[in-house]
Amino acid sequence: MNITFQGHSCFTVEVGEYKVVIDPFLTGNPIAKLKPEDLKCDFIIVTHGHGDHIGDTFELAKANDAMVISNFEIVTYCQQNGLQNAHAMHIGGSHEFPFGRVKFTIAHHGSCFTTDDEIIYLGNPMGVLLMAGGKTLYHAGDTGLFLDMQLIGEMNKIDTALLPIGDNFTMGIDDAVKAAELLNARVTIPMHYNTFDLINQDASVFTSRVAKKGQQARILNVGDSYDF
Ligand code: NI
Ligand code: MN
Repeated sequence: MNITFQGHSCFTVEVGEYKVVIDPFLTGNPIAKLKPEDLKCDFIIVTHGHGDHIGDTFELAKANDAMVISNFEIVTYCQQNGLQNAHAMHIGGSHEFPFGRVKFTIAHHGSCFTTDDEIIYLGNPMGVLLMAGGKTLYHAGDTGLFLDMQLIGEMNKIDTALLPIGDNFTMGIDDAVKAAELLNARVTIPMHYNTFDLINQDASVFTSRVAKKGQQARILNVGDSYDF
């Protein structure tokens, strides 16, 4: 599995011949280098309805004829707005796709889409386990720390965990260090920081504190790839 950090919580994942993107927030993302028209994908996984995660989902799905994979509410919202190629799942459920298996986990956060004058509720937010080619990737979505991360770590041999560290809307560094410990992934990579001033963090503080506990952590700069 090969992952590339596209800024914020957006990762492109290459599994064999398939290209998957998680939380494709490129337009309006000040640290993104990739333009939506340059992103090729077959599948789009959306963890929750906030604009910095659903992002360019509609444009990308249409341009690439890509399938959207998300919770029932987000998938229904997509289908009501012209995206028929969408697969609904929910927390605790898993499903085999051509690229591998997706399982959604809990995340403690919100999930809505805001227009100029209304808030559309889009179900519960989620994290995602992506299992392909004998490897397991965990993308925590936006979440606070929760003890069930220990269970997720016990029941899945996680190769790479992607954890938010930006604070304010999600875990900050203190809680993310504890999350890394509970998940016990082979490598932990921080996300959801330095996109906006409000979530500025020194990611090296996170990685060094994780390393001090005997676990591996690494920083991916925007555009960096990691193969595992
Ligand atoms: Ni969010
Ligand atoms: Mn977010």
